[in-house]
Amino acid sequence: MKIAWLYGNESISWNRPYVWLTLGVRGAGKSSFLEHLAEQHLQSGNCVLDLFACRAGENLAWLRSKWAEEKRVLLLSDENAIVEAPDSVSVKPYSKLSLSDFTEYDIVINSSPLYRSLDAEYMSCNFIIDKLWHRLHWKRAIFTVCREASSLMYSRLKVVDNQQAAKAFLIYWLRESRHVGCSLGLDSVRMTSLDLDVRSLADFTVFKSQGSGGLPRELWFVYRYVEPCFLQNMKPGQFVILTRRGHIGVGVFSYPAWHKSEGEDILAKLRLKVAFEEKPEAGAYRGKYVTLSDQEHAELVEMYVVQGLGMDDVAAKMQRSTKTVFDHLGKHTRDVQRLGYCPRCRRAGSKLEAAPAKPAAQNFVSSQAAAEKQHA
Ligand SMILES: Nc1ncnc2c1ncn2[C@@H]1O[C@H](COP(=O)(O)OP(=O)(O)OP(=O)(O)O)[C@@H](O)[C@H]1O
Ligand SMILES: [Mg+2]
Ligand SMILES: [Zn+2]
Repeated sequence: MKIAWLYGNESISWNRPYVWLTLGVRGAGKSSFLEHLAEQHLQSGNCVLDLFACRAGENLAWLRSKWAEEKRVLLLSDENAIVEAPDSVSVKPYSKLSLSDFTEYDIVINSSPLYRSLDAEYMSCNFIIDKLWHRLHWKRAIFTVCREASSLMYSRLKVVDNQQAAKAFLIYWLRESRHVGCSLGLDSVRMTSLDLDVRSLADFTVFKSQGSGGLPRELWFVYRYVEPCFLQNMKPGQFVILTRRGHIGVGVFSYPAWHKSEGEDILAKLRLKVAFEEKPEAGAYRGKYVTLSDQEHAELVEMYVVQGLGMDDVAAKMQRSTKTVFDHLGKHTRDVQRLGYCPRCRRAGSKLEAAPAKPAAQNFVSSQAAAEKQHA
């Protein structure tokens, strides 16, 4: 991004924890600005935690960015969500998150479609923030993106009993996050949904198009440097920045092309599957052939792992190609290693959901040994 300072001058370090607040009307380009900030942090070797986004899973769009190829990505999910994601992405239930994950991964995404309900998502937000609270030593900053600042307050209402306590928490978190190495990037549609107590804690307040509402009285001094009509109607790629020290600049930033567009079905585009029920899937017709049902997949794994049959024999018994068997065993093992279980086996109710498919010979020996033991 580029900034032309109109009053004062400030350099921004992506390795220091700051609080960024982005304000503007719907569609003003707030979220894409936060994504741009997150990219700057990644570029400098820091970590990004995309904590809260809209129900449609805007923050899953990271998975199609160039960063998903260059960096290590972790998706957090509901306790009993069954998530099928590309192999390059790790998935785990939020309750298994540990501070070392912020060293092991570069992009940690907590996304709505992976939660059964908004309540469940709020609970995970609390859990993650409380976890970060224990981060007393740190080498790299975590840029935490929250695409609706007031959601932090609402999530806190799940664990405290009144609005005042929730707001007190938000203020505390904004003030103290730097001590645990967290930079915050928050956005909000309405000035009024974040009052002065909260706004005054920002190191950088970024104004995007304000629409007809204009600025609240205590910010009128900004009009000395920037025309009101510019603030009302600026383009999504433009912004006005106000620093804690009162310095003011105008800037432009480049659009993250991977940003989710409105109405886009991001889950389908990314071939991400999320299920909360454990109903097995039947095979589906794909023109000339039928895909394996979950039940068949589980049988195939069982033949290989427990009965110790070779891939060719399994293929013959299933009346499938050896390649299909090979692919299913591979996917099964990768899912077990990545998720701790195989979603297909789980849906089919197989006992082998957490057992990697080991080389046949080894299993054959161990299953024979087990059989002999039973006989003895
Ligand atoms: N830097 C940019 N350059 C050009 N166009 C942009 C830029 N940033 C955003 N846009 C356009 O603006 C649209 C809305 O952006 P974005 O989703 O970030 O807005 P928002 O303020 O977060 O909206 P909402 O309030 O609905 O969450 C984008 O889909 C894109 O078309
Ligand atoms: Mg947005
Ligand atoms: Zn399996």
